[in-house]
Amino acid sequence: MDDLDEVLRDGFDEYREFVNPLVFQRASLAGEPLRVTRAEDGRLVDAAGLEVEDLHGTQAFGHRHPAIADALRRFLATDAPSWYPSRVNPFAGRLARRLCERTGAYDNAFLACTGSDAVEAALKLARALTRRPGLVSLEGGYHGCTYGSLSLMQQGYLRDPFEPCVAGARAIPFGDVDALARALAGGDVAAVVVEPIQGEGGVRALPDAFVEALCDLTARHGTLLVADEVQTALGRTGRGFLATAGWPRRPDAVLLAKHLGGGLVPISAMLTRRDLFVRAYGEDFAAGESHNTTMGFNALSAVAALAALDLLTPDLLARVRDEGAWLRAALAERLGGSPLVREVRGEGFMLGVALNAPDHPWLGFEHFGYPGLRERPTIAPLVCHRLYRRGFFAFTCGHDWSVLRLQPRFDIPRERLAALVDAIAEAVAWVEGLL
Ligand SMILES: Cc1ncc(COP(=O)(O)O)c(C=O)c1O
Repeated sequence: MDDLDEVLRDGFDEYREFVNPLVFQRASLAGEPLRVTRAEDGRLVDAAGLEVEDLHGTQAFGHRHPAIADALRRFLATDAPSWYPSRVNPFAGRLARRLCERTGAYDNAFLACTGSDAVEAALKLARALTRRPGLVSLEGGYHGCTYGSLSLMQQGYLRDPFEPCVAGARAIPFGDVDALARALAGGDVAAVVVEPIQGEGGVRALPDAFVEALCDLTARHGTLLVADEVQTALGRTGRGFLATAGWPRRPDAVLLAKHLGGGLVPISAMLTRRDLFVRAYGEDFAAGESHNTTMGFNALSAVAALAALDLLTPDLLARVRDEGAWLRAALAERLGGSPLVREVRGEGFMLGVALNAPDHPWLGFEHFGYPGLRERPTIAPLVCHRLYRRGFFAFTCGHDWSVLRLQPRFDIPRERLAALVDAIAEAVAWVEGLL
């Protein structure tokens, strides 16, 4: 490996030069803790010694969880291969079995590297099975940056530059039962893809009435119901292992990624039922090969995912539910009186603070020299900017920049949550003071 100190000194600028200057520039302008050099007790520490709590959600176990790191180390100390030329990888087999058993609803798994890969696998399954063109999603959904997944998203910066998108894909209004019924009535829709709680769409849970209609209508029309649980699964919402476990009908496919690899390796999964796999791919060996990815079935990722599953004990899932409820209530209480705060919402450790965009000429992106972002609210980015200095790396919802997105690690101590509430209250008060 290259010298660590040297990489941590020069690598950030090499990223700007050789990877993506815009990402570097955005992070610098926003004041994000950028030059992070180490992880300690699940948190990050930057070059200036600032300790940072990462609220993105991908690191649900905290950065470099010792149990995940240890599982990887122990695997590397054996002589087992990580990649099998036949693709029949025993570690993938074991992980697939464990994932299916944990859900109690699925008995077939496709493993890949990213959430977008899992979305693609579900779209392919649905089309291969139904031979129909239609792919329906909801406005405000976020599904990834590959062609199938971005085609599920509504018009906007994540999709527009890449048109034309996959034919047959379209987004209907969020939570609109009539629009869903109309979309499915023609019998030409292969799949409906939804997030149980939209993450980037503003932390919006699907209304119960919509979920009921969705389960019923998709069954009646022979359309696959696909739950994109990339953000909501694996304990995040406090509802349990999957956020969809209590739905009237279990989705035909469910997608996992994010902290499936324990935060240290990339891995994703599409879980479905064996009968659907057989109907889609039958006994045709060629079709079986088309459901493939080279590195998805590697042992190193499977080993990390098995260790991550071990960490997801009933106690930890209950902690996320209870501490999430505490955090939501504490935020609602502290922020309730502010004219800038619309609502605190979400479940478990998937929370959002919906803010009112202040109508002030100095607080628009135009004033900051970004006329292209004129239509977007600055409010959540401004609050994030204050939070960085207090050691909290919070985020703005990708599709809705008026919503602060909070996804703490599952073992975050109560004092840190209390400090987060203080920091958000201080940041909101600071913006209020500018008005
Ligand atoms: C709900 C949802 N689906 C899919 C994806 C795509 O995952 P990836 O970025 O790993 O491709 C994301 C990523 O944030 C997501 O939030």
